[in-house]
Amino acid sequence: MSFDYRNGALCAEDVPLDDIARRYGTPCYVYSRAAIESAYREFAAALADRDALVCYSVKANSNLAVLALLARLGAGFDIVSGGELARVLTAGGDARKTLFSGVGKSEAEIELAMAKGIGCINVESEAELERIARIARRLARRAPVALRVNPDIDARTHPYISTGLRESKFGIAHAEAERLYLRAARMPELELVGIGCHIGSLLADAAPFVAAAGRLGELVDRLAAAGVRLRHIDVGGGIGIRYREGESPQPIGAFVRGTLAALGARPQKLIFDPGRSIVGNAGVLITRVEYVKPGAARNFLVVDAAMNDLIRPPLYDAWHEVRNVRASGAAESVYDVVGPVCESADFLARQRRLAAGEGDLLAILSAGAYGMAMSSNYNSRPRAAEVLVHGTSAHLVRRRESVEDLFAAEQIPG
Ligand code: LLP
Repeated sequence: MSFDYRNGALCAEDVPLDDIARRYGTPCYVYSRAAIESAYREFAAALADRDALVCYSVKANSNLAVLALLARLGAGFDIVSGGELARVLTAGGDARKTLFSGVGKSEAEIELAMAKGIGCINVESEAELERIARIARRLARRAPVALRVNPDIDARTHPYISTGLRESKFGIAHAEAERLYLRAARMPELELVGIGCHIGSLLADAAPFVAAAGRLGELVDRLAAAGVRLRHIDVGGGIGIRYREGESPQPIGAFVRGTLAALGARPQKLIFDPGRSIVGNAGVLITRVEYVKPGAARNFLVVDAAMNDLIRPPLYDAWHEVRNVRASGAAESVYDVVGPVCESADFLARQRRLAAGEGDLLAILSAGAYGMAMSSNYNSRPRAAEVLVHGTSAHLVRRRESVEDLFAAEQIPG
């Protein structure tokens, strides 16, 4: 395991987390290189006998060091903005192995992606298809595109991260897809390279994922019969991880095997774009207890990390396990773990039995995905440091922001 107790201290691989706190301060995100590699290899191993590509979804954790690590392992990338494209290229990723998703790509982003040789633009509407064709004509080159199809399948996950239903802003309705493909096939500026879907995130069960892949497969066959031959099928990301003891999401292998079975012997390259399942359990957030605040109705541990560092608990009512970095001499009690931000929604965990006192270090587990990536400067709080551990060494991969960083882009008019 990548985060375990050794000699009384919770460690990331071979490095005690209190060493990291001493060197880099708190709050601090800590990632395990071995954990990221092993999750990636689980995909790679399950797909070994198939023409396939794993495009890591950059939004989950976009630190350059994480992207560089995955690029070296051979991953492609799934991006949703020009900013993410710049990160991928800076980290040594291959534009040709990169997919550009998202409902609101700007002209400038599409142009940039084409100029850099993007592998595929996942088109999310007819208007976007027309925009891409226009840009391609202007640049006198063909744009590689796929349609992101909304298969109208319930991912059975949190409504904020469910994307495959008819009500969703994402993708092109399944019933519309064939007509649009046939239209796109007549646009000489477009090169139809594939088809994609993504029904939602944090799926515990592979069944809806596999069902969506199956629907794509049928569509691919119908399109082939109509003369539109696609080179890849992108089944999306969304594979869940375990946040809480007792949860038993199906493992990566079950999602991959189910998909392989559903798509059978079709010749298309198979693409997965996982984010959370690669980095989620590969990261923790370490934070220090500032105050113990007993109350009539609730007891609070006020810590130095807050909702601006990790917004998942208030935003999705998400559960993150809280552990002591070292056993504390303090008495056990039931606490809400809260931050310094001025919002009642500023909690990292609620009603947890913990023994911790002022100055103790806590680790918020499973914080590698959508943690730092969704952080903000709310309340003018500089963003946390990020550290990547490899064996016995800890590398600072993002320095803690300074107070000057907070307003470096601002000006007071003269
Ligand atoms: N592909 C597409 C097109 C996506 O929209 C997403 C995530 C992924 C792949 C990666 O999904 P994953 O494998 O990470 O589940 N902030 C939320 C999750 C939002 C996911 C958005 N889309 C959270 O913290 O739970």
